[in-house]
Amino acid sequence: MKFFIDTANLEEIKEAYDLGVLDGVTTNPSLMAKEGISGDEKVKAHYKAICDIVDDNVSAEVIATDFEGMIKEGLELAKIDSKIVVKVPMTKDGVKAIKYFSNEGIRTNCTLVFSAGQALLAAKAGATFVSPFLGRLDDISFDGLELIEQIVHIYSTYGYATQVLAASVRHTMHLIKCAELGADVATCPLKVITGLLKHPLTDSGLAQFLADHAKAAGK
Ligand code: E4P
Repeated sequence: MKFFIDTANLEEIKEAYDLGVLDGVTTNPSLMAKEGISGDEKVKAHYKAICDIVDDNVSAEVIATDFEGMIKEGLELAKIDSKIVVKVPMTKDGVKAIKYFSNEGIRTNCTLVFSAGQALLAAKAGATFVSPFLGRLDDISFDGLELIEQIVHIYSTYGYATQVLAASVRHTMHLIKCAELGADVATCPLKVITGLLKHPLTDSGLAQFLADHAKAAGK
């Protein structure tokens, strides 16, 4: 399973990368705005800075909503670095754009996916990644994990190469359940990744080992 970090914050990306378990980064316009990044040139420079930290898989989202605009923006984003994956929303023009990028050998992440039907369309268009937003489904009392299970099942039944990227992952149990269900990737905030480290028995066990060692050494 791949771990992506869901942020545009460079310090958090560095911290996750230094842990040695990071496979990529997802951003979206809200996350870029949160870091105060705006304007074409600043946005591109920020994507480049992210690419310089990680090994691969940096999702950069198009803002345009029409086919021509998405193609123009996506081609420019893809030029920033070979690590860029063009993130395209699940709309009619988005599906056409994914097909176009796929024919051009440009990797895509189909975002804002909330149903199995949408995921099927994304795979048929040749998306590299599909991003079902499980936390946002949970927020409106639909079972986000059930959607992950459905998509994993459909893709494996037909052998689609599109990778299931569980997005809007809010806590460690989401992440663990996604792993159990066979999601290829999960993207989540840094605190969810570092949350996996924690167990009270690890803390008390280590404290006991160190205390016993000190006692034996006569300290
Ligand atoms: C990632 O690609 C998505 O944009 C992100 O996971 C959405 O997460 P949120 O629902 O917590 O905003």
